[in-house]
Amino acid sequence: MVEQSAIIDVQGVTKQVRDANGTLTILHDIRFQLAPRESVAIVGASGSGKSTLLSIMAGLDVPSAGTVQLGGVDLFSLDEDGRAALRGERLGFVFQSFQLMAHLTALENVMLPLELRGDREARQRATDMLGRVGLGSRLGHYPRLLSGGEQQRVALARAFVIEPALLLADEPTGSLDHATGESVMQLMLELNRAAGTTLVLVTHDPALAARCDRQLRIEAGRLVD
Ligand SMILES: Nc1ncnc2c1ncn2[C@@H]1O[C@H](COP(=O)(O)OP(=O)(O)OP(=O)(O)O)[C@@H](O)[C@H]1O
Ligand SMILES: [Mg+2]
Repeated sequence: MVEQSAIIDVQGVTKQVRDANGTLTILHDIRFQLAPRESVAIVGASGSGKSTLLSIMAGLDVPSAGTVQLGGVDLFSLDEDGRAALRGERLGFVFQSFQLMAHLTALENVMLPLELRGDREARQRATDMLGRVGLGSRLGHYPRLLSGGEQQRVALARAFVIEPALLLADEPTGSLDHATGESVMQLMLELNRAAGTTLVLVTHDPALAARCDRQLRIEAGRLVD
């Protein structure tokens, strides 16, 4: 059998920023590969570089050195439009800060990625997905009228709804109560199994991390074993 190639291949990724005191290295020579269908938890202390790494894996932030290949395509050989198009096709992203569109309702927020790819059943699919995260009765709410946990679930629904090949989620259960967090985790693992989605999860919760196939630990910008 032919070995399946990596869904994402991170090679030598370094991120440096310049500040008043000189150059700060946020990520140092990060390298790993993820196979299709794998679930991985990224763990590490606050400020260790987890969100920065996730943003680079999504092509939302640019590394100072190194490469990221998404499904065999070198992300940073594309221009921003090219990266956005690839994201729209293959990738769901849940931000630590949700990043919902304030002027769109919950339903419209979740419909957006479907509409961008011209899905004629956007409304129905988005409605179903909001039902699955327990927000079937909040479709017409604007983000400001939703609680923090509800906003987080809208953000999850928006990321899930395209059934992405790769889902990157930054503390997706961070502001949810235990029961809701558990149902969101179930939903992610279900998507991982049913749709074959590769799951990358940043979490501070050891119990959640333990449910992933693999854990990557970051300490001060370096991957450690
Ligand atoms: N654009 C930037 N300029 C300067 N410093 C930055 C920049 N982006 C991130 N940092 C710094 O890089 C470090 C890593 O940040 P990052 O957000 O990746 O951490 P994290 O591991 O996600 O932390 P948390 O668990 O608190 O979310 C932090 O010390 C942060 O201050
Ligand atoms: Mg973070």
